Amino acid sequence: MSTETVSHPLFARIYAHISGRMERELGRYRDELVGDLPEKVLEIGSGDGMNFAHYGEATEEVVALEPEPYLREKASPRAAAAAVPSTTVIGTAGDLPFGDDEFDAVVVCLVLCSINDPGSALSEFKRVLKPGGSLRFFEHVRSGDPKKARIQTGLDRSGIWPRLSGGCQCSCQTVSEIERSGFEISEIREFETRPSWLHTSPSVLGTAVTQ
Ligand SMILES: C[S@@+](CC[C@H](N)C(=O)[O-])C[C@H]1O[C@@H](n2cnc3c(N)ncnc32)[C@H](O)[C@@H]1O
Repeated sequence: MSTETVSHPLFARIYAHISGRMERELGRYRDELVGDLPEKVLEIGSGDGMNFAHYGEATEEVVALEPEPYLREKASPRAAAAAVPSTTVIGTAGDLPFGDDEFDAVVVCLVLCSINDPGSALSEFKRVLKPGGSLRFFEHVRSGDPKKARIQTGLDRSGIWPRLSGGCQCSCQTVSEIERSGFEISEIREFETRPSWLHTSPSVLGTAVTQ
């Protein structure tokens, strides 16, 4: 049984305060991320629930896992108001409270950067996905620009960025991590969110399938 707890009271309040404004930039990516997902979906680290309104008609049920108490509380009314039946549950990515082969898709949205052991989390995603199920991801990643990547690494190593952002690492190489865990990337788009000078702007959005 997992003993991991995730509690970032200050970050959670700041994130819930600015998430509405971030929607102006991120809303279109959320549509692309979850708008066409099939049947039963598990969303990991759903925060205050900003993705719920973006699921489309093909989705029958969303189960949203969120360990941070304040964000989970903020997500509940959004889950209740969503067109697609949605529930929020407590738990962490490395020890999912679900059986094998339960979900058609798993979603991570700006989450893998905050998970201490992404390898264990990805193994869990594979376990709960049905054969042929997919992992849909939208994550900020390490920049391909060496200068920006150095700044990202410096912010992570200094501890400044992780402390400000609920444990997020901005220089993570998420795509290699996904591939290392035995998923195959079937589609991917690389881009910068705006403003592009931000150290979290280099992003990837795509789908990975179990091999
Ligand atoms: C930057 S927020 C993103 C929230 C949301 N996905 C969104 O798109 O707005 C990162 C989220 O990951 C969650 N998180 C951190 N560690 C986690 C873990 N081990 N398992 C599941 N979620 C985790 C945090 O509580 C937080 O809600």
